[in-house]
Amino acid sequence: MQKNYYITTPIYYVNDVPHIGHAYTTLACDVLARYKRLTGYTVKFLTGTDEHGQKVEQSAQKAGITPLDYATKYSAHFQRLAKTLNISNDDFIRTTEPRHKQAAQALWHKLEANGFIYLGSYAGWYSVRDEAFYQESELVNGKAPSGAPVEWVEEPSYFFKLSAFEQPLLDYYAEHLDAIAPKSRYNEVLSFIKGGLKDLSISRTSFAWGIPVPNNEKHIMYVWLDALANYLTAIGYPNEQSPDFKNFWGNVTHVVGKDIVRFHAVYWPAFLMAAGLHLPQRVYAHGWWTNEGQKISKSVGNVIDPYALIDTYGLNAVRYFLLREVPFGQDGDFSHTAMIRRINTDLSNDLGNLCQRVFSQVFKNCNGLTRPETLTAEDTALLEKAYTLPATVGKELDTQAFHKALEEIWNVIGDANRYVDAQAPWALKKTDTERMKAVLYTLVETIRCVGLILQPFMPDAMLALLDFLHIPTEQRNWVFVTAAHALQTVSLDEPKPLFPRFVEA
Ligand code: MSP
Repeated sequence: MQKNYYITTPIYYVNDVPHIGHAYTTLACDVLARYKRLTGYTVKFLTGTDEHGQKVEQSAQKAGITPLDYATKYSAHFQRLAKTLNISNDDFIRTTEPRHKQAAQALWHKLEANGFIYLGSYAGWYSVRDEAFYQESELVNGKAPSGAPVEWVEEPSYFFKLSAFEQPLLDYYAEHLDAIAPKSRYNEVLSFIKGGLKDLSISRTSFAWGIPVPNNEKHIMYVWLDALANYLTAIGYPNEQSPDFKNFWGNVTHVVGKDIVRFHAVYWPAFLMAAGLHLPQRVYAHGWWTNEGQKISKSVGNVIDPYALIDTYGLNAVRYFLLREVPFGQDGDFSHTAMIRRINTDLSNDLGNLCQRVFSQVFKNCNGLTRPETLTAEDTALLEKAYTLPATVGKELDTQAFHKALEEIWNVIGDANRYVDAQAPWALKKTDTERMKAVLYTLVETIRCVGLILQPFMPDAMLALLDFLHIPTEQRNWVFVTAAHALQTVSLDEPKPLFPRFVEA
């Protein structure tokens, strides 16, 4: 049976250039998409840009250009970032595209036809920076809980009957304990719902940059209703019979930052219920990065530019670091020292040196070696551990535990390093060349497995490694991590270090 997987990033606001937070979410989704493809899934991986709303309109006004020109310029930054990070997205959606206007308006129609929209007027607080409405009781010292300024808004508005979904959402989450992760976010969402859901204002009249409400063009759709609909647009909605819709709406994972859980785990499922559509299987909310211990903010001037990171440390190291350093779901701190430690210890020492030692010995002493007839208990123990990687790593990735997945891989790398020290193949060269070959074979075969498993995390470096080992392209998915597909011969060119040490300039 065909296995399908739909993975989405939030769509990014085009009011500014991308920073590390955007790179992080997209990267996490990329690892999941690549992992699923390598384990036989048909994947749709969507990212894109959120281009409407007051925030973008105001930024464009400041820049003195039209909102669309502004959005086009900043959307291009996000598209370029995806390329630079070697992101394997299958689609990039812009909410200013005609396909999206059509889908968002169709969703509106559906909610209206099903009796969940009514016209009224809104009087309350709004934060342009968060693009969110807040209750008086939520404000902290006159600001949004996020610290963003709020303004008083009074205008005619359409409302969505969110209050009608309080009980249905509670019932749903009582049965779907894994629908929101990590658990702390699940609990947060539940207590928010239990606190009572008020109807939600879903249109604005005091500015124009948005998708018009069908049949009442004085109103534009609230940017979050517009934005959330992107997940449906990209799979062909409103055509629920389209192949993409049929294939992918059944298995959806939304990865988001912790600040936008409410939109994805309260409003979005309520809209979907109202439209008679399935709910996503999973909403995973990751934590936030700080920079050398400080909150990242434009006013502080400590925003981390992903391009600068890649220039300084290289793409593979950046991808590895972001997913290894901090348990996904928790907040984490970016620091130069921590980055260097990961590069020099995990990548250069543990994995890079292992490869270099093993490959140079093969190259110098026994190139063309074949799979040995007999293996010792130590050889078999190492290989068997390597062959368990698809199961152990897959289990962690299925719950978005990237850091644990990498820990599992580094356990095997650690075992391989202990094995090479204990077996000392360089000493065997003089005493027992057959044994030396068996040891080196065992190591190269272990490295093959590690290389296959690490592909989602560091696709460029692993491409180079697997090419170096002459692994045919069609033998690179995870089913090949078994004894049945073990290397038959090992013929190597002269090796070059895979992960050079980072030396301070
Ligand atoms: N446009 C909305 C999402 C709409 S989805 C239907 C939005 N965009 S955003 O550009 O402001 O933020 C996108 C993502 O970046 C969010 O998931 C947010 O959590 C993440 N990050 C922003 N700053 C961050 C850090 N400092 N660290 C980690 N992620 C952070 O919200």
